[in-house]
Amino acid sequence: MLDGKKSLFSGMQATGTLTLGNYLGALRNWVTLHDEYECFYCVVDEHSITVRQDPATLRKRARDLLILYIAAGLDPEKNCIYYQSHVSAHAELSWILNCFTYMGELNRMTQFKDKSAKHADNINAGLFTYPVLMAADILLFQSDVVPVGIDQMQHLEITRDIAERFNNIYGDVFTVPEAYIGKVGAKIMSLQDPSKKMSKSDENPNASIYMMDDPDTIMRKCRRAVTDSEAAILYRDEQPGVKNLIDIYSACTGKTVDEVLKEFDGKGYGDLKTGVGEAVVSVLKPIQDEHARLSKDKAYIDGIIKNNAEKAAYYANKTLRKVQKKVGFPERVR
Ligand code: TRP
Repeated sequence: MLDGKKSLFSGMQATGTLTLGNYLGALRNWVTLHDEYECFYCVVDEHSITVRQDPATLRKRARDLLILYIAAGLDPEKNCIYYQSHVSAHAELSWILNCFTYMGELNRMTQFKDKSAKHADNINAGLFTYPVLMAADILLFQSDVVPVGIDQMQHLEITRDIAERFNNIYGDVFTVPEAYIGKVGAKIMSLQDPSKKMSKSDENPNASIYMMDDPDTIMRKCRRAVTDSEAAILYRDEQPGVKNLIDIYSACTGKTVDEVLKEFDGKGYGDLKTGVGEAVVSVLKPIQDEHARLSKDKAYIDGIIKNNAEKAAYYANKTLRKVQKKVGFPERVR
């Protein structure tokens, strides 16, 4: 709770660009949440350096992502969209929480195991304590809810454990956050393997449509989408590829599955794929155009970055000061 309003926090990495699945399944449904919640959408650049990054690329991607959120409809006056590295309370609280987190707990994190296998030459301490920084992100804003995918549930669990442990020792300091279960968006599957979710980290570039893919790329990926040999446009589990295309079409056009089936009655997979490609372009193109427009408006974006970092720091420091006092750090002399 912040100032009597429930609060919502989400962090996103600027590595790998957002997919159509991220947009239709999540982002698109977030644009009205500020009515109900004080919303924070943080570009977690500090988490990004747990894996080696090219500095210029990281800087550019972080800015692109921040702008993309605005272009996709999150009003930056009503949602706090900012960089983690601009609010020093994240790192400061993270240090304190490190002292309330056990090695054994962190050792169990599946993401740590996966990432250390993937980056065996750089298993750094930051990679190990990644979930603690994430806990700090969330707890700084007394977040009630956190929209997370299934892959981040374990990190949310450890956040809750750390918060409860701290509260048990020092009294009610942190709100214990819950996963945000809101209006569920469309669940979009990989275009190449419809048994898997569309993912920004998929190694096969044809499996995912990225929000910044140009129209030709989108059309090509849709045309290459895996279907089946049934040659029938039906909405059923036995035809997961076709089902996914119908879901995408429905999500992009706002038509119901029945309407989509009627529209493509008697038509072939080629027609469906072209239709889906065009529908996706009609959703993503305006966002891309807006992204291009905003990117040119440096003064406007810089203003948002500055104001929102100040707003985030205001709330974050309030929690941090409370925590510092609880653990026994000397009072500041004014
Ligand atoms: N670890 C998250 C991911 O990779 C990103 C993240 C960092 C996050 N801090 C967060 C997500 C706080 C939700 C809340 O997706």
